[in-house]
Amino acid sequence: MVNRNPADLPMRVKLPEPGISGNRIEELLAKRRSVRRYAERDLSETVISRFLWAAQGISSKEGLRTSPSAGALYPLEIHAVIGEGNGFEPGIYRYIAEEHTLTQEIPGDLRERLSRAALSQPMVRQAPVSLIISAVYPRITSKYGKRGIRYADMEAGHAAQNVYLLGVELGIGTCAVGAFDDEEVKKVLKLPANEEPLYILPLGYI
Ligand SMILES: Cc1cc2nc3c(=O)[nH]c(=O)nc-3n(C[C@H](O)[C@H](O)[C@H](O)COP(=O)(O)O)c2cc1C
Repeated sequence: MVNRNPADLPMRVKLPEPGISGNRIEELLAKRRSVRRYAERDLSETVISRFLWAAQGISSKEGLRTSPSAGALYPLEIHAVIGEGNGFEPGIYRYIAEEHTLTQEIPGDLRERLSRAALSQPMVRQAPVSLIISAVYPRITSKYGKRGIRYADMEAGHAAQNVYLLGVELGIGTCAVGAFDDEEVKKVLKLPANEEPLYILPLGYI
């Protein structure tokens, strides 16, 4: 048997219990789950606006946003695929963060087509609204080269988590959907060649 100096042993410290501070953000984190079935209830204009702001809204006088961004270059775009009801004409909209506005790009209820592009995952068809997070990589690779792709992908995770956490607060579920046919989603959204879809986030009351 080898005598080991206790100082050489890896130190293991039992941490205080997580999520018990009563702090709001910890409560939201503890409750966050991916939700794949939604009630048949529309989302209001106000609720849609809140999710868009949570994902990419402007939160400082200097134009900084709710999600961190490498070099503050903001390569992400948010689209909303809105079905019948929901306070908007059905269609596909682009969020303009600087103005906090939605611009309709394609009219009509395209949820069924989006669901088919997402390997027919039913939640994408069922959700009254889905947000799509996409990246315009040249905005960030122009400064960081190939590494900019990684940075934009990381940023999409930040934005998606904001959406998840606001959802917990509002009783609205989402599920990060990464399994889809890129080219099909690009076709449904008529994305320009330099814009790549990263996430679909269906939204619906639980
Ligand atoms: C990058 C990524 C892609 C995902 N894609 C899908 C998807 O296409 N369909 C799906 O049902 N869930 C998808 N999920 C959700 C995971 O299945 C889910 O987060 C995991 O089961 C853990 O459950 P929780 O989010 O409730 O904690 C994805 C999650 C991540 C992070």
